[in-house]
Amino acid sequence: MSRHINIQTFLSFVFLSTCFAKPLIVAHRGASFDAPENTLPAFELAWEQGADAIEGDFLLTKDKQIVCIHDHSTKRLADRNLEVKSSTLAELKSLDVGFWKDKKYKNTRIPTLAEVFATIPDGKKIFVEIKCGTEIIPFLIHEIEKSGLHEERIVILCFKHEVIQALKNQAPQYIAHWLSEFRRNDSGEWTPSLETVLNKLKKINADGLDSHHGIPREFSQEIMEAGYEWHVWTVNDEKLARKLKDMGVFSITTDRPEWIRKSFH
Ligand code: G3P
Ligand code: MG
Repeated sequence: MSRHINIQTFLSFVFLSTCFAKPLIVAHRGASFDAPENTLPAFELAWEQGADAIEGDFLLTKDKQIVCIHDHSTKRLADRNLEVKSSTLAELKSLDVGFWKDKKYKNTRIPTLAEVFATIPDGKKIFVEIKCGTEIIPFLIHEIEKSGLHEERIVILCFKHEVIQALKNQAPQYIAHWLSEFRRNDSGEWTPSLETVLNKLKKINADGLDSHHGIPREFSQEIMEAGYEWHVWTVNDEKLARKLKDMGVFSITTDRPEWIRKSFH
């Protein structure tokens, strides 16, 4: 009898936890509303602001180092314009990518993936967005292995489906989601269609979809019903965050982790 009650209590607990489950809060390029994007100060601030995970963008340098930067050149963030893939790590490290945000961030450098990994506190995660092609994969796997981080704490993202497919072929133990935007034409048709998304996720062996928050509701529901995780970026609006939470999203990527976290209380 008491065993019966314990099982019921357990099931109620599971039910209630599901009802009140909150999506993970992922700091987009770190706490990038307050600190220079994709830098160590932005990632450290994200942890201080209570983020569950950080998201960063990664590219390969000429000397095959993985660096954290969104664009293929440094034009937007530094006062010298270098192309990442044709520059060495030392050349990229000579640039200041913090000053544009605020003078208190003067002399902030582009971090390597290893330096970003080193900021991650116990129990927290990282979303690694690959911004180049499949050439980065062997170097990425090497860095992950070197970091000693458990595979469950790393999520790989990419807009290029062939990168996710190649990664899952070579290292299926890593969690990897395909990134996609959604656009509607004048006749109300969405691109990509739900059928295209489901076929692609299956073909590339992805674990889920990380979509722009403008995805139609029926798409996200069908994607989850098909057994995939569904995540969204970039949400800086409290009302929208609460709506996405009610839709069952697994994580919300935001420039303002503290703000969004508080909106769930
Ligand atoms: O987390 C995905 C999101 O970062 C994709 O957009 O351009 O900010 O890298 P972007
Ligand atoms: Mg990104």
